[in-house]
Amino acid sequence: MQSVDQLDALREQVQQWRDDKRSIAFVPTMGNLHQGHLSLVRRAQELADKVIVSVFVNPLQFDDKNDLSAYPRTLVADIEKLESVASDLVFTPTADTVYPNGMDEQTVITVPSMDNKLCGQARPGHFDGVATVVAKLFNMVQADFAVFGEKDYQQLLLIRKMVSDLNIPITIIAGETYREKNGLAMSSRNQYLNAKQRDIAAALYQNLLSIKNKLEQGDEDFLALEKYAVKSLHESGFVPDYVDIRRADDLERAEKGDKSLRILVAARLGNARLIDNIACNLA
Ligand code: PAJ
Repeated sequence: MQSVDQLDALREQVQQWRDDKRSIAFVPTMGNLHQGHLSLVRRAQELADKVIVSVFVNPLQFDDKNDLSAYPRTLVADIEKLESVASDLVFTPTADTVYPNGMDEQTVITVPSMDNKLCGQARPGHFDGVATVVAKLFNMVQADFAVFGEKDYQQLLLIRKMVSDLNIPITIIAGETYREKNGLAMSSRNQYLNAKQRDIAAALYQNLLSIKNKLEQGDEDFLALEKYAVKSLHESGFVPDYVDIRRADDLERAEKGDKSLRILVAARLGNARLIDNIACNLA
């Protein structure tokens, strides 16, 4: 696997693959890789001849400076993991490469109606930072496909909307959420949890399943279902941010009669802010 941190070297390799008529799939990450990330790399390998993974902890998407400095940086281990799944190239730019004129001078992309709800409310500016860095990375890498995890469902929809609104020539593919045995969605933030909290954290997924089950049985009192789950998470030791039943395609509030739903949760447990979501398709 090649490891590249300069834009010129990246472009040169991409151009060579293009000249050789190779297709390229791209998996953007912030590193501290786990099986969830690697499952996206495998999905990317099914899609294209060459796979590029980026590892860049993007300062523009952190609304909290402490969160940014605490974010785990494990590049040596990340590279080993990417080698173990035979990724072709890892792109590891510095902040100076991505933001040569500084972040204050950076043109910023806002994706209307996706950036200000759910996680966007709790983390002001976060989704502008995500959209901006992903657009830049797309222009740097120029891949045919990019793979994003359903784990970050709002992010996935935000990127899809940005690509459509800005006519960016890339196909976005969703990768399923990869979970621990107890159902907890894998996340770099899980390492902020101790062993006891990891057990408790499984309640997040259990609550989603229980809401889905009730919806499938015909319960249409969305508000009561949400409230009940918030209470149950509180009792398990979480500080819930939201438990919401939304329309799957635009994340607007679900109403009676909507069939294609997404149930989303965000909650703090100890030092970790955890998120998860599942699909619920009613007949
Ligand atoms: P990061 O949190 O490192 O996640 C990189 C990709 O891995 C995202 O598409 C995310 O949805 C996916 N992912 C994380 N946990 C997963 C799991 N358990 N199963 C499947 N996929 C999972 O998301 C970001 O980085 C950043 O916002 C980024 C898009 C790189 C922009 O900076």
